[in-house]
Amino acid sequence: MIDQSTIDKIFDAAEIVQVVEEFVPLKKRGVNYLGLCPFHNEKTPSFTVSPAKGIYKCFGCGKGGNSVSFIMEHENMSYVEALKYLARKYHIEIEEKEETEEEINKRNQRESLLIVTEFAAKYFKEQLHNSKEGQTVGLSYFKERAFRDDIIEKFQLGYSPMQKDALTKEALKKAFKIEFLTASGLTIKKEDWQIDRFYGRVMFPIHNIAGRVIAFGGRTLSNDKKISKYLNSPESEIYHKSKVLYGIFQAKRDIIKEDKCFLVEGYTDVISFHQAGISNVVASSGTSLTVEQIRLIKRFTPNITILYDGDEAGIKASMRGIDLILAEGLNVKILLFPEGEDPDSFSKKKSSSQLLEFIDNNEEDFIAFKTRILKKDAKNDPVKKSLMIREIVNSIAQIPDKIKRSVFIKECSISMDLKEDMLYSELTKILRRKAEKKLQKHYQSPQDVIAPLKQKSQSNQIQLNKHFVEKELIRLIVKYGETELEVHTEDSDSIKVCIANYIYDEISKEKETYIFEDLTNKRVFEIISNQIETTGIYEQKSLVNYPDKDINSLVASVLSSNYNLSEIWVSKENFVEDEQAKLFELVPETIMAFKKHRVEQLLKETEEKIKLALTDEELVNALTIYQNLKKIDTDLSKKLGFRTIT
Ligand code: CTP
Ligand code: MN
Repeated sequence: MIDQSTIDKIFDAAEIVQVVEEFVPLKKRGVNYLGLCPFHNEKTPSFTVSPAKGIYKCFGCGKGGNSVSFIMEHENMSYVEALKYLARKYHIEIEEKEETEEEINKRNQRESLLIVTEFAAKYFKEQLHNSKEGQTVGLSYFKERAFRDDIIEKFQLGYSPMQKDALTKEALKKAFKIEFLTASGLTIKKEDWQIDRFYGRVMFPIHNIAGRVIAFGGRTLSNDKKISKYLNSPESEIYHKSKVLYGIFQAKRDIIKEDKCFLVEGYTDVISFHQAGISNVVASSGTSLTVEQIRLIKRFTPNITILYDGDEAGIKASMRGIDLILAEGLNVKILLFPEGEDPDSFSKKKSSSQLLEFIDNNEEDFIAFKTRILKKDAKNDPVKKSLMIREIVNSIAQIPDKIKRSVFIKECSISMDLKEDMLYSELTKILRRKAEKKLQKHYQSPQDVIAPLKQKSQSNQIQLNKHFVEKELIRLIVKYGETELEVHTEDSDSIKVCIANYIYDEISKEKETYIFEDLTNKRVFEIISNQIETTGIYEQKSLVNYPDKDINSLVASVLSSNYNLSEIWVSKENFVEDEQAKLFELVPETIMAFKKHRVEQLLKETEEKIKLALTDEELVNALTIYQNLKKIDTDLSKKLGFRTIT
């Protein structure tokens, strides 16, 4: 661990513009700097750096934070690695504080696993090239499949010997601990024996985005149907299947360069494409495609082409993939290979330019693809035809962007010869259903379930507002916490108090009642409370520099937010003035609104308790609480029309 004073030094030195400029060309625009966002693909710059606030923020993809979080995000580093990187850049000597045992263990665990997988990858490679068995069995298999030497090297392919404990033995001899061999899944250990998971297989190491080996896929060379063709490493502290794409390390530069990513099914598909000269390709090996994997691609390009087998399973997987990809706001095309072919086998029969030409000529956008596939089924059956329309509009409904949706509705209307109006009404229906589902997911509370439908939508309304008010209160404290307000006390003296302290006093008096529901909001309030409790004041700077990505991102979005006037205020007076000048009203009103929502919520819960009370005692208790809450509620209502601050 790096001690706090060194961390402070690093934060003070790491000037945001200098840090970012090393990776992103910036142009000065007024007080800020502007550039093309490195985290998503864009043509017009929306990536803003504010030297005054020490933050960056992209208005396109929403990413934001401070110097350290920029390095973490951009270079895929941990917090400590990013600090060390910046320390080197600014010639700051690092004084390391002793780590707690837990910190050491956690770091060591991950690091040890990575060292073990690295060792295993080297061992498998060594075996493939330098052992007799490796050459005659492993290498000749790859040769049979026509894998070139440079490709075998590029993917660090290897061979795990037939002897069932060859790797485990060698690792133990080299003083690796058995616990790490089992935790990484390389060794399977039972009470009285231990064997290699991957014995007798050719090995495909799986790399993380930074190029470190985190897991393996191993293919058997036997034709025995009882032996599973591929074995994969199990989940571990360093390998989370759903977040990993095979080949991403080898592909990332080319995905950016081509502004496109091919998505295939298997290890060998990825490898054969590279061999054919197409390097912007990844596979979701070992799992069906996940949202996290799509988001990983999204960091490099918004354009994905799915290349799956043309069989039943391939079609099904494509249909599912289309909706997932659209829902992430990306563009998707699909190409199914002819029956019996996969990208691996197909690419071997073509030259690189023929392959690219084939893809170019045959990839379809999702509407054309779905229409073609579903039409086969529908023929002239009107019921099936209407199902098909719904199916396609359903995909369009996944797209978050309204303008893009309308482009596809138009295309759909032309290609299926249907009126746009009719498609829109179908779209609206689906969107409404989706919105309702989402509401229920986020805002369902126990009493919503028992309450009749009509009341249900009312209570949703209230909770939605609550969500907004909570966010607003956090925005005010983060943005204006250091600003002073003049407050009239009860004996009408006036004193000056910082907004952070004012909000803190109001809320923390009854911490248990006035809670924040959103976890990040809650943490921000706790951090500020902590600051006030220990130093007496809120310092925006230390919140900006707080070592946590979620917090950084919230703070960056609050500080860089374009709208400068509370929406509560806009709706009330319906005209816009400088927000700063209105803080004396805005702050107390937001506090009251926040409290009122919370009290209303408690009132409802108590009402339910009254209804469900089984004993007199329970009833009396609930009634007492109810009366107290009611009093607070009336009080708040009065105060909401009555200002204590001028
Ligand atoms: N897979 C797996 N376990 C299996 C079969 C397949 O994890 N028992 C995964 C592998 O990542 C594999 C992908 O699914 O690469 C696609 O499977 P398949 O098409 O059967 O394999 P190919 O990649 O075509 O492998 P090969 O050409 O070596 O037969
Ligand atoms: Mn294959």
